[in-house]
Amino acid sequence: MAPKIVIVGSCMIDFTCFSPRLPKPGETLIGTRFEKGYGGKGANQCITAAKLGASTALIASFGSDTFAQEYLEILKKENVDISHVKIQKDKHSGNAHIVVAENGENSIVIVLGANESLTPEHADSAIDMIKSASVLLCQFEVPLETTLHALKLHQGHGFSIVNGAPALKNFDSEILRLCDIFCVNETEAEVITGIQPIDLSNVQQVADKLLDKGCNAIILTLGPLGAAYASKTNRNVTRIPTTKVHPVDTTGAGDAFLGALAYFKAYHPQLSMDECIRRACVVATQSVLKFGTHASFPTKNDLPIDLFI
Ligand code: RIB
Repeated sequence: MAPKIVIVGSCMIDFTCFSPRLPKPGETLIGTRFEKGYGGKGANQCITAAKLGASTALIASFGSDTFAQEYLEILKKENVDISHVKIQKDKHSGNAHIVVAENGENSIVIVLGANESLTPEHADSAIDMIKSASVLLCQFEVPLETTLHALKLHQGHGFSIVNGAPALKNFDSEILRLCDIFCVNETEAEVITGIQPIDLSNVQQVADKLLDKGCNAIILTLGPLGAAYASKTNRNVTRIPTTKVHPVDTTGAGDAFLGALAYFKAYHPQLSMDECIRRACVVATQSVLKFGTHASFPTKNDLPIDLFI
């Protein structure tokens, strides 16, 4: 059976150190521990949906190193279709350098490596898979021309979500027009709209600016404050709150939200967008209670049963 959720996106090897707080510019801090993990916004979103029980496929690009082989085993274990994952000769796999502070906040620098070699032709080779997907999910960690191409291939065949992360100041606004939902967090929205700082008092202004840029609908994720949603047909922002918790590690929380959103759109299409967002917030909130990315993403059994009705 064709995968219901197709992700055209990134894979990274995460090198994470835990520290009392995030360092200031020029400062050296003594951390408490180090972990090697598996991330990348594309793969994280894919694993979230797979852990919730979705049939998923990842269209991605790795380098020719042992990290790639390790990662492929992980994806296989989660039943992700990796038939369109390519290994690039003479490239290294993408990697992310993450600092997680005691309050759960993080900062990340990524080196794209083989993710940069994910081409529009690569998407073409998966055309049938892309066209038959109920939901196509993309991010900004692979070349934008590939994302744009995948969206064009999928247009008219299902629902599409673009996560504008990491944020880019100027990019082809055709991406905004082609996807059904464009989703960013406050920091990303600040870069894209120039509105700074973003808080609850100006989310309507942020939404208006993104809708004016061509978005069909936008979701602004607001960390512990939940998310805000607005669309071309109803420009008034709706805020969907989430439960307050004490986070230990927020790395990948946005990815948990997006993977879960794709899951609810694909498997519970009768739900309103507000309800899909509310349920995706529950999944994201759960993910900040554990360390790491994949290990922190809940399975169906870890979540309240009424989320799946
Ligand atoms: O969103 C979290 C992810 O961003 C990390 O896993 C890291 O790989 C970077 O891509």
